[in-house]
Formats: sequence, C-alpha cells, structure tokens
Amino acid sequence: MQGFFTYILILIIASPCLCIRLNVGTENAIINVMQFGALGDGTSDDSQAFASAWDSACKAGGTSTLVIPAGQLFMVTKINFSGPCTAKMNIQLEGNIVAPSKEAWKLDGTYWISIQYVNGLTLDGNGKGGIDGDGSTWWQCESCKRPKVYVLYFHACNDLIVRNLGISNSPQSHVSVNTCNGATFSNISINAPATSPNTDGFDISDSSNILIQDSNIKSGDDCIAVNGGCSFINATRVTCGPGHGIRSRKMQGGSGYAKHITFDQIILQNVKNPIIIDQNYGLDNEATNVEVSFVTYRGFRGTSASDVAINLVCGPSTGCFNILFDQNNIVSAQPGGNTSATCKNAQGTATNTIPNVSGLTN
Ligand SMILES: *[C@@H]1O[C@H](CO)[C@@H](O)[C@H](O)[C@H]1NC(C)=O
Ligand SMILES: *[C@@H]1O[C@H](CO)[C@@H](O)[C@H](O)[C@H]1NC(C)=O
Ligand SMILES: *[C@@H]1O[C@H](CO)[C@@H](O)[C@H](O)[C@H]1NC(C)=O
Ligand SMILES: *[C@@H]1O[C@H](CO)[C@@H](O)[C@H](O)[C@H]1NC(C)=O
Ligand SMILES: *[C@@H]1O[C@H](CO)[C@@H](O)[C@H](O)[C@H]1NC(C)=O
Repeated sequence: MQGFFTYILILIIASPCLCIRLNVGTENAIINVMQFGALGDGTSDDSQAFASAWDSACKAGGTSTLVIPAGQLFMVTKINFSGPCTAKMNIQLEGNIVAPSKEAWKLDGTYWISIQYVNGLTLDGNGKGGIDGDGSTWWQCESCKRPKVYVLYFHACNDLIVRNLGISNSPQSHVSVNTCNGATFSNISINAPATSPNTDGFDISDSSNILIQDSNIKSGDDCIAVNGGCSFINATRVTCGPGHGIRSRKMQGGSGYAKHITFDQIILQNVKNPIIIDQNYGLDNEATNVEVSFVTYRGFRGTSASDVAINLVCGPSTGCFNILFDQNNIVSAQPGGNTSATCKNAQGTATNTIPNVSGLTN
C-alpha cells in the first residue's frame, strides 16, 4: 500500500515537469533572415539566406515567425518556400523584396516566389512590406520571350492568410492561387501600369473558399481572373483599374467547373471589359466543357473604358447558369458615352443594373 501511494505521489510531482518539457519542445521561434546571412543591400542575391531561414523555421515546433525586416531591400533570384512544415508558419514581411534584372531571372518554372504545401500560413506585410517584380525591362522589350511567371505563387496552401501587403510590377501576372482551399487576402495593393502587357492581378484556379477583400488592384490586364475548377470565390470591396475587369475563364478545350462565385462592392476606374465570362478563351467558336454557374455580380460601381461593360460569352453546349446581376452601375468613362451588355448562351437574372442586361434567358 505504502508503495502504491509513493507511486501516485511521484506521478503527480512528475507531471508538471513533463508539461514544462513539452512546452520547451514547442517553443515559438522567431527567425530573422539576417541571421542566415541575408544582406538586404538590394543587389546581392539573398535567395540562399531566405531558403536556409525558411528551412529552419519550417522544421521547428510550435509557431515559427520568419522575419523579413523593415528598412531593407532584398534582391532574390528565386524563392521556393515549400512545406509541409512541422511548425505553424508566419511570415512577417516588413522589408521589400525585389526581382533581379531581366538577365538574371531563373526561368525554370512559372513563378518567382513560390509558397507550396504549407497549411495555416499567415503572410503579413503589416502595411510596410512589398514585393516588386521589376517588370519594366520585360515590358519594354517586345522581342524578349517574357517569362510566363507569377510574382507570388501559392500552390496547395490551405487556410492561408495574406494581408497588408503591396505587390507590384510583375513581368506577367501578380498573384496565382492554385489548388488552395480556404484563403483570405485582405488589404492587398497590386500596382502595375495600365500599359504593362498581361499583368493580371489575381489568377485563381482549382481552388475553393477564397476571399479577396478590401484591396486595390491596378494592372495592365485582368483584375481578378477566375479559371476552371473554382468554387466559393468571394471578392468584396475591391477596386479595379486601370486594366481589365473580372473574368471567369477557362482555356479552350478544358473541362471542370467554376461555381458559387460572388463579386460584391467592386469599384471600377476606367476598366476595359469590366465583367467577362468567356468560355471560348483562347480560340474562336469552340466551346469548353467548363460549367459556369451561380456567379453573382453585386454592387459594381464606376467607369468602363469600353462600350461593352458586361460581356457573357458562353458556349452553345455548356452554357452559363444562374448568373445574377444586382445593384450595379457601370457607366462610360467617356463623357456622353454609353455602356452596354452582351449575352450569349447565358441564363440568369438582372435587377437594378446599368447597363441593361437584356440578353439573359430565364
Ligand atoms: C520546391 O522545393 C520542393 C522541396 O524541396 C521541391 O519538391 C519542389 O520541386 C521545388 N519546386 C520547384 C518547381 O523547384
Ligand atoms: C493596409 O495597407 C496599407 C498600405 O499597403 C497600409 O498603409 C495600412 O496600414 C494597411 N492596413 C493595416 C491594417 O495594416
Ligand atoms: C463575402 O465576404 C464578405 C466579407 O468580406 C462577406 O460580408 C460576404 O457575406 C461574403 N459573401 C458570400 C456570398 O459569402
Ligand atoms: C448614348 O445613348 C443615347 C440614348 O440612346 C444616345 O442619344 C447617344 O447618342 C448615345 N451616345 C453615344 C456616344 O453613342
Ligand atoms: C431594358 O431591356 C428591357 C428588355 O429588352 C426593356 O424592356 C427595357 O426598356 C430596357 N430598359 C432600358 C432602360 O433600356
């Protein structure tokens, strides 16, 4: 009996120690790229330092915060932050990251900065950080084969949060969201000149439950492009323009679906083709098998650079269903100009919408 009580007593005394040990193992780590040899001088390649710092943060326990400090300019030729990570990852990007000159781009992929297979990541610029693709040298060179690259590419990142961040001057598209489930982008500022060719803001594909909110997207091409395989996409309080508008598209010959997509309170400033659904993207007269349904456009306000402000081009066999327009007011950017809507093979309803969307079938 005596031995039994002793045993219990030891267990009780031992258990708080065990908890403390567990806590040590899961201590939160703050890992600064400067500790891994980043120089932040704007010219030296800090890619290797970023990769080492990421590895160290990713392999830790608890929560890891990778710090890219304010007041520095980091030139990186390529970043591939890859998971899965044992730590819950935060990236605090308060400094600025800039792309190399055209000659130094590593064109062995479709991105410059990639984050993949990381769940539960928060990337926060705290309103200070920025990523600049230095695209002007590419745009100017018409004979150059421009890289089909994204500045920031998220692949297979579930439960992602990206906020308070500036992204500018991509050689091509700015942000790609691919095969992600659950992502919120807030207070994102995308900035590229109207004359920069093919510089989309967001490209979303094969993803669901994506929210883009309170953001400002200035680019030379699509503001937000929703490609095939998407569902439950929500863009709210987004300002687009100059550049093109919001497009639901799928490359010709593709298949899949794009459904439950809501665009709400979108402000347009001199936008070319503010609203497009294009099932024939790429080639003429051949429909895709992508199904587009339950798409809501509500609260669009502002100006269109083109007469056709709403353009729904759906395939004869697939068609678009349940396309809803409500409370929109898109007027011409030209004084005295008119806007109009065209609809092909589209079913849905329009209420309180300028321009008049009369071509929808019931
Ligand atoms: C990124 O890094 C991961 C892990 O090292 C690797 O599996 C993947 O192939 C890399 N991606 C590219 C395109 O380099
Ligand atoms: C949102 O971003 C802007 C500029 O990028 C910044 O000034 C502002 O502080 C950010 N808001 C928050 C809540 O961080
Ligand atoms: C979209 O997100 C906003 C928050 O930014 C929310 O108020 C709204 O209800 C969402 N819409 C849908 C259809 O989920
Ligand atoms: C716009 O529409 C109005 C009314 O239909 C018409 O009188 C006017 O000429 C149009 N303006 C232009 C620039 O086409
Ligand atoms: C809008 O279209 C409907 C159907 O074609 C038509 O009856 C209506 O007069 C139009 N409204 C305006 C303001 O052009």
